[in-house]
Formats: sequence, structure tokens, C-alpha cells
Amino acid sequence: MTASFRYQLRGTGAREARSVEDYRRFARRAVPRMVWAYIEGGAEDMRTVAANRAAFDRWQLRQRVLTGHPARDDLSVTVAGETLDVPIVLAPTGLTGMTNWRGEAAVARAAERSGTRMVLSSAATYSVEEVAAATTAHHWFQLYPWRDRELMGSLMARAARVGAPTLVVTVDVPIHGGRELELRHGMGTPPVLTPARVLDAAVRPRWWYGFFRYRRVTVRHLEDEGGVAAAVRSVRRQAGLIRVDLGWDDVAWMRDQWPGRLFVKGILDPEDAVRALDVGADGVVVSNHGGRQLDGTVPSLDALPAIAAAVAGRGEVLIDGGVRRGSDIVKALCLGADAVCVGRPFLYGLAARGEDGVVDVLRILRTELARTMTLMGVHKLNDLGPAWLVETGGGR
Ligand SMILES: Cc1cc2nc3c(=O)[nH]c(=O)nc-3n(C[C@H](O)[C@H](O)[C@H](O)COP(=O)(O)O)c2cc1C
Repeated sequence: MTASFRYQLRGTGAREARSVEDYRRFARRAVPRMVWAYIEGGAEDMRTVAANRAAFDRWQLRQRVLTGHPARDDLSVTVAGETLDVPIVLAPTGLTGMTNWRGEAAVARAAERSGTRMVLSSAATYSVEEVAAATTAHHWFQLYPWRDRELMGSLMARAARVGAPTLVVTVDVPIHGGRELELRHGMGTPPVLTPARVLDAAVRPRWWYGFFRYRRVTVRHLEDEGGVAAAVRSVRRQAGLIRVDLGWDDVAWMRDQWPGRLFVKGILDPEDAVRALDVGADGVVVSNHGGRQLDGTVPSLDALPAIAAAVAGRGEVLIDGGVRRGSDIVKALCLGADAVCVGRPFLYGLAARGEDGVVDVLRILRTELARTMTLMGVHKLNDLGPAWLVETGGGR
């Protein structure tokens, strides 16, 4: 009997997880290798995936003692006009139902239980309407500037109708990155199934059952739109909608259509950040797509200070890529972020323990953030700034 099979029968054991890294290990056992390659993989040599993490190690935390500050429970921030209990937003991730069939509906509920919001991907396996029906809070919506404006208009209208307050426009996918790990494991449209890969999935009966029973593996929004019936075709169609010749006029057009707040995600250059604000964005997400697009580009954290300086309070600055600890959140806030987004960490929680796993990952990050601040001698989030960091170089 394989370790995965035993795990699946007894439960993944993930209740023992104490950190995001623990969840990562449990998640790896919970899903087939092909799905793991999709979650964990990045572009080409995955240097940017590693660099996103290493960037956090170049900064050390200052520690002040005997400050007399009382224990601090309030970690709330206001982002996009909403007060969140934690400075952590759940990043958009496509095809989340492959991780666990409960998918984006479970992630949104977990975000809500944790006092924050999820950004629903346009490539989600649950539609905006399904997520709205499964939750009480209004979650954000992410959209790529696709080639079909009618389709984009329709999706924005649907998101606005269910009350999504904020649109996140992802601009770093003019073409797909070279996801070699995914290809190596047969992840594609359609997936390349070999007897070994089928067996690898079959020894995970929980995952297998959810996969076949609920089939949450398609881009639900595209299936709804235009009646694209075939599941595989929805994913293929999404790939066909991506445009290489994207321009700022596409974002400006989306700004005109969208009634709520708008963030531009995938910004790594200060001039682009300013440009985003010039076309009417309320903020930017400093991001390299978790290292899944351009391999060898700058780590998000390294790009953050110059972008925060260029934005200079004209808009809000979020960041994602490699946030795995509360201390990482402290560093990002010190360097100018208003809040962070996490992607893979909540997918680990979802894979290992479903909705409760996502809640637990957020609880862990929150606890670590509070503990780090107390140990540093920082009283409140607003007090964080560059003066609390020491740059020592190094890295993993
Ligand atoms: C499995 C997966 C799917 C993703 N799908 C999308 C997507 O549909 N739209 C998008 O804007 N970003 C997508 N991203 C990127 C995330 O929004 C985010 O930028 C990235 O995961 C942050 O890095 P982290 O995973 O290290 O936290 C995806 C990331 C992962 C891991």
C-alpha cells in the first residue's frame, strides 16, 4: 500500500500542520502528481519561484525590547475601501477545483470566515454566481484583458450584478509561461494520461472520488458564456482568448466598463505602476504571477520599494509571490505594501483539508504576524516602515 493511499484512507494527517510549509507537504500527498505540478510549478527553471522566497531573506527584522506595548489583537487594514481583519487577500487561482472539488466556493467561504476576501479567477471552476450563492460577503473578481470584448463585458456585468466590489485585471499573461513541470507530468488540455498517471490518481481515493463525482475541472465562466458545452473546450478556449498585443487602452477600456474599484495585477516596474494609476486604476498588485510566467524576472519583494515610492500614496499597493510566513508579511508591509496576497498557501490548505485547511492556513499566518510584531516591539501595523528592517543580503 502506498503512503498516499494510506494517507487518503486515514485522512491526510494535516491536522498536525503547524506552518504553511507543513501544509505544503500534506498537500503534496493529497493530490496526484499532475495536479501538484500545476499548483507548485512555475516557468522553465523556476528561478523566479525560488527568487520570490529568497528575496525575503535579504531583509532582517529589527528587534526593540521593553517597549511596554500591550498585546495587540487588531491586525485590520482598509484595502479597496473594505476593512479586512488581516492584511491578507486570497489571490486568484484558476482551476482550483482540481486541487479539491469544493474549489473556489470553499476558498471564498474560508476567506469570509477569516475576515478577508478572495479574488475569484476568471478561469475558476465555480462561477461568480455560484460563489455569490455560497457566501455572504462580496468577493473580488479577476479578469484577463482577453481578445473578445463582448465576452469581457458580459463577465464584468455578471460580476457587478452579484456585487463584486473590486476588479483585478491581470496583465502579465500576453502568452502562457513555459510551464515545463506541468508538461512533464502530462498536465495540459487535454491532460496526457498514461497508466502510471491514472494509477497515481487512483491511489488517492478521496481526490479521485471528488474529481469524478463533481468534475470541477473546467472554466465555468466560459462554459456559461456562449454555451460552450465541452469541458475541455472551455480551457482551450481560454488559452485562445489570450492576446499578445495587449496595450494600456485595453485596461482603460475595462476601467470605463467597470463600476467599482480596479487593480492592475502583474506590475513589476514603477513606470507601469504609474501608468496603471494614470488610466484610472485604484491600485496595483506587484506580482510575477508566482513565478509562473517570465522566468528570471525580478522577485516581487525586490520590485516593491520602487513601486511604492512611484505610487506615492496615489493608489494602493498589494504584493504577492512567496509569502509563506507572518514575518514575510511584516517585511512586505515595511517595504510599502498595504496588504499581501497569497496563492499557493491556501491551495495547500485546500488540498490537505478543504475549507477548514484554508481557514487554518490563514489562522497560522495571522498568528505568526501578530507574534512577529510583538517580538519586534511593533505596536500596530501602521507603525511598520523601512526603519524596522535591516538589509543584510544573503538569501536561501
Ligand atoms: C495554481 C495557480 C493558478 C493561478 N491562476 C491565476 C489566475 O487565474 N489569474 C491570476 O491572475 N493569477 C493566477 N495565479 C497567480 C496568483 O494569483 C498569484 O499571483 C501567485 O500565486 C502568488 O504567488 P504565491 O503562489 O507564491 O503566493 C495562479 C497561481 C497558481 C499557483
